[in-house]
Amino acid sequence: MKKHQFEVVVVGAGGAGLMAGLYASQSASTAVISKLYPARSHTGAAQGGIGAALGNLEEDHPAWHTYDTVKGSDYLGDQDAIEFMCEEAPSIVYELEHMGLPFNRTKEGKIAQRPFGGHTNNETGKPVMRACYAADRTGHMILQTLYQQSIKNNVTFYDEFQVMDLIMTEEGVAGVVALEIATGELHVFHAKSVIFATGGWGRVWEITSNAFAYTGDGVAITLRRGIPAQDMEFFQFHPTGIYKMGILITEGVRGEGGILLNGKGERFMEKEGNAPSVKELASRDVVSRAMYLELKEGNGVNGENYLYLDVTPETVNKYAALDGRTNPDGSPFSVTGEEILGKLPDIIDFCETYLGVNPVTQPMPVQPTAHYAMGGIPTDKFGQVIVDKKRKPLPGLFAVGENACVSVHGANRLGTNSLLDLVVFGKHSGMKAAEYAKEADYIPLPDNPTEFVEQQLETLRNAEGEERISDIGTEMKEVMFEHVGVFRVEDGMAQAVEKIRELKARFKNIKLDDQGKKFNMDLLNAWELSNLLDIAEVTAVSALKRKESRGAHARDDYQERNDKKWMKHTLAWLEDGEVKLDYKDVIFTKFEPKKRVY
Ligand code: FUM
Repeated sequence: MKKHQFEVVVVGAGGAGLMAGLYASQSASTAVISKLYPARSHTGAAQGGIGAALGNLEEDHPAWHTYDTVKGSDYLGDQDAIEFMCEEAPSIVYELEHMGLPFNRTKEGKIAQRPFGGHTNNETGKPVMRACYAADRTGHMILQTLYQQSIKNNVTFYDEFQVMDLIMTEEGVAGVVALEIATGELHVFHAKSVIFATGGWGRVWEITSNAFAYTGDGVAITLRRGIPAQDMEFFQFHPTGIYKMGILITEGVRGEGGILLNGKGERFMEKEGNAPSVKELASRDVVSRAMYLELKEGNGVNGENYLYLDVTPETVNKYAALDGRTNPDGSPFSVTGEEILGKLPDIIDFCETYLGVNPVTQPMPVQPTAHYAMGGIPTDKFGQVIVDKKRKPLPGLFAVGENACVSVHGANRLGTNSLLDLVVFGKHSGMKAAEYAKEADYIPLPDNPTEFVEQQLETLRNAEGEERISDIGTEMKEVMFEHVGVFRVEDGMAQAVEKIRELKARFKNIKLDDQGKKFNMDLLNAWELSNLLDIAEVTAVSALKRKESRGAHARDDYQERNDKKWMKHTLAWLEDGEVKLDYKDVIFTKFEPKKRVY
């Protein structure tokens, strides 16, 4: 076992981890540990933009952004944190610009902005251009920019190290244990502050935009250490994934005028009950539900389970004229094929590569895809982990980005707010973690800090059963997609809970093919599956208990939002293999809950 000591250890090298590491490193010795190479994270899947009310093309205000985010969250977001994030947004976007992020530009050389779902001019209710973008590679550009800055700032990176445990003693947080993937050796990172930034867990579901690595490690590790997970029932389905593959087609396509059409060629978003006002630019939960219902009614294309997203200039220009859409100077909005190609190059590339479809001339076959976790490790707005309904902090432990629940997204996140969340809270958690580390002493390590990880690995290695992890994984994804997906009912969710418990029992009976130490991905994939199973169970149980529809949690048997009973955050613990639930108040500042209409 090798030992290292850093004042701050960040787990995960996506946008949140890099931003936290960058800021922590300005005043504390800092390591970033990641199972992937930095810049390969899911942050890259946030293609279309980062939200900030710069007002570069039309009037906009952080206060409008705040209201839209509260409304988008279906009023479950904590309003103090939302206000903080939206107020910080313009300055942090300029900070990224000054670090070298290559944003697209307006004619005047300002940062270019495009409309995105749920972002509106609060006076007219019309979509507002708030998403600051770098073509359809905004997340990737954030990763590249922050990685360069981190290298410049001497952050120490441990790439391809899988963190498997949080070291906690009676005195508090003392570091993490990681497995070096290349050698199979265990490393102990002794730290004063630990920041989890391990991303989401879309791999719980069959169709997902998430990469294979998105297995919820941070939440699973902290659940095993007695820390609750918050609002796990709220998982976002992005409306436009490539049919059957789930690969993301950015909402920026709709921002550039793309239209959703059913198999009859109808623009179904304008139907009463969907979003007749903002149509394709409603919040994601609303659009995904409308798509699901179209498919359920048999209105898919060619009788199949997909719809069309059409961004061909002919279609865009036709509907822009019908909607009376104008440019900021008041001239009629229209696009050319060349402009589409310039603004959405990766999307065009994906569609040509995976489907043989050219979006400049053909519509794209799409279906909703599991995309983003609104829930996660509960924190305050400085990333400090809080462990109960009274918001008691756990000193030295921080969480940020998708694995954290601040909660700024509540029951449904607006597009562009994930990138904003990870830079704003990444920055503040990095600063707070360093500040804490400067005041605190190292908590002594226990006698055998790797004991728990060794036990887990031995159990997996020595399992002598017949079950294959791929079969268990597939069955988990199918049941979660069918019963804990876009629409849910009591019976289906109960079946999912039962099935996940059966799969957890079968997991004890697995057999691995690889008994080696170096690059043993068989072993790691098994451990990741155990994380996904824990998360699936907590998600399904939390969802089953919430008897209302709110944001991404849409129930056929309880179709209305019930503020009287359910205006509260769920907290879930895993104790002796059982899920225990409790509830925490939502923080309100100025917005009273209203019925959402788009
Ligand atoms: O559609 C997108 O470009 C995704 C953005 C996001 O998840 O914020």
